[in-house]
Amino acid sequence: MDGSTVARRESDAKMANILPNGLADNLPGSSLRNLPNIVVVGAQWGDEAKGKIIDVLACNRSMVVRYGGGNNAGHSVTVGDIVYKFHLIPSGVLYEKVVCVIADGVVIDPGVLISEMKGLEARGISMRNLKLSGNAHLILPYHRTLDLLEEERRGESKIGTTGRGIGPAYTDKAARIGIRVGDLLDKNRFEERLRDVLTWKNEVLTKLYGAEPLDADAILLEYRGYADYLRPYVTDTGALVSEAVQKGNGVLFEGAQGTLLDLDQGTYPYVTSSHPIAGGACIGTGIGPGAIDRVIGVAKSYTTRVGAGCFPTEQLNETGHYIRERGHEYGTTTGRPRRCGWLDALILRYAVQVNGLDYLSLGHLDVLAGLDEVKICVGYHTLTGETLTRLPSDLPFRTDLTPVYETLPGWGVEAEYARTFEELPQNAQAFVRRVEELAGVTIASASVGPGREQTIFIEPHWSKLTG
Ligand code: IMO
Ligand code: MG
Repeated sequence: MDGSTVARRESDAKMANILPNGLADNLPGSSLRNLPNIVVVGAQWGDEAKGKIIDVLACNRSMVVRYGGGNNAGHSVTVGDIVYKFHLIPSGVLYEKVVCVIADGVVIDPGVLISEMKGLEARGISMRNLKLSGNAHLILPYHRTLDLLEEERRGESKIGTTGRGIGPAYTDKAARIGIRVGDLLDKNRFEERLRDVLTWKNEVLTKLYGAEPLDADAILLEYRGYADYLRPYVTDTGALVSEAVQKGNGVLFEGAQGTLLDLDQGTYPYVTSSHPIAGGACIGTGIGPGAIDRVIGVAKSYTTRVGAGCFPTEQLNETGHYIRERGHEYGTTTGRPRRCGWLDALILRYAVQVNGLDYLSLGHLDVLAGLDEVKICVGYHTLTGETLTRLPSDLPFRTDLTPVYETLPGWGVEAEYARTFEELPQNAQAFVRRVEELAGVTIASASVGPGREQTIFIEPHWSKLTG
C-alpha cells in the first residue's frame, strides 16, 4: 500500500466512526469490510452443532452475537478433551479477544446466565468481553411455572418444550408486559413493574391453574442480587454491533434453535417462540439486512428433533437407534433422547429459501459410518399419487405423506480421522456431493466429529467465509 492509500483508509476508518449505520460501505475506495459478517443458522429442527461452526469461524472475528432464544439452546464446543456447553453465552467466548454479545432478541434467565458465567470463569475463561443488552427480556419464575403448567394443560397435544419459560417470556414481550434487563438495573422501576405484573400472574396461576401464588418479595430479593452481578456487563449492544459491522471486523451472528422451529416459518405450533432464521439476526440485534454478507446453514447428515411434531423421515427402528447411540443424540439442555431419522432434502431446500443460505455446513458424517446404505428423502408421495418436492406449508397436519428416498451406498469405514475432503471415504464424498445437488446450496465444510480439527474445509468456498 502506498502512503496515499494508507491515508485514505485511515480517513475512511475515521469517517466510518461518525457515519450512521451502513453509509461507511459507500465510501469511495473503501475497503472497510475486511471480513464478511456472517449469520450462522440451524437448517433443521435445532441441535445441528451450530456451536462448533461458530467456534471455528470465531477465531479471527471481532464479535459473536447471540440474537435469539434463551436457555432452551445448548451449544457444545469441544477443545481437546474439554467439552464446553453454552446455553446463553455466545460460543465465541473461548477466544480472549472476541467480544461476545447477548443481544435484544434473547430472553435471559439471569440465574442461569450467572451460573454459566461463573462455571466458565472457574475453568479460566474470562467474562471481560461479555456484553448484555438492556433491551433483552427477562425470564422470571412465573414464566418457568407457566411453561410447565401450560404443557400439562395441553396433555396429549403438548409441544414438548424445554420447560425453561421461553414461550411465556416471549408471550409477555409481545403482550407488552415483559420486564427487561434495563428494568432490572433500576431498583424502583423493577419493583413497580414486578408487583404490577405479578398481581396479574398470580391471578392466572391460582384461579386458572389452581397453582400456588408466587411471592413478590422473594423474587425481588433474588433478582436484586442478579442486578448487582450483571450491571457491569449491560450496555447498548445495538450501537456496539453496528459499530463493529461498519468497521468491517467480521461479526458473527449466532443462531440458536433451527429454521423449522421458527415461530413464523417453522412447523407451527410445534415451534419455539422466537425467530431462529437469518432474518431474526436483524430484528434481534438492531442491524439492517444490508449488514449481513453471508448466511451459512448448519445441518447434520441425518435429521433429529426433540419434542413433539411432524417428522416425515423419522426412523422408529434399528436405524433410528443406531443414529441416536452413535451420535449421542440426547439433549444438551434437557437430556431427552432425540428423535432420529434420515436426511430430508426438502427441509434443506426450505432452509435455503427462508434463510437465503449461501453455504451449508454438513456435520456428523462420522455417525453414519458403518451403515450398509444411507438414505436421503427427495420427495413426499401423497395418497392421491402426487409427489411433492417442496416442503408443504401445512406439513404439521399432513398425515398422507410418505417419504421418497434415494439410497446411496454407505461408508463401512470410520470417517472421523479424515482431515481433508479427499481423505473422506469415497462413498462419504459422494454423499456430500449429492446433498449439495439436492439441497441446491454449496457445501463449505463437512464435519466428522466434535473436535475443532474434525471440521473439513471445502475450498474455495470456506475461504469466502473466513477472508
Ligand atoms: P439449539 O440452539 C433443539 C424445541 C423444544 C420444543 C420446542 C419448543 O440447541 O439448537 P421451547 O422450550 O423453546 O418453548 O420449546 O422447541 N427446542 C429445541 N430443539 N435444539 C434447540 O436449541 C431447541 N430449542 C427449543 O424441544 O420442541
Ligand atoms: Mg439443543
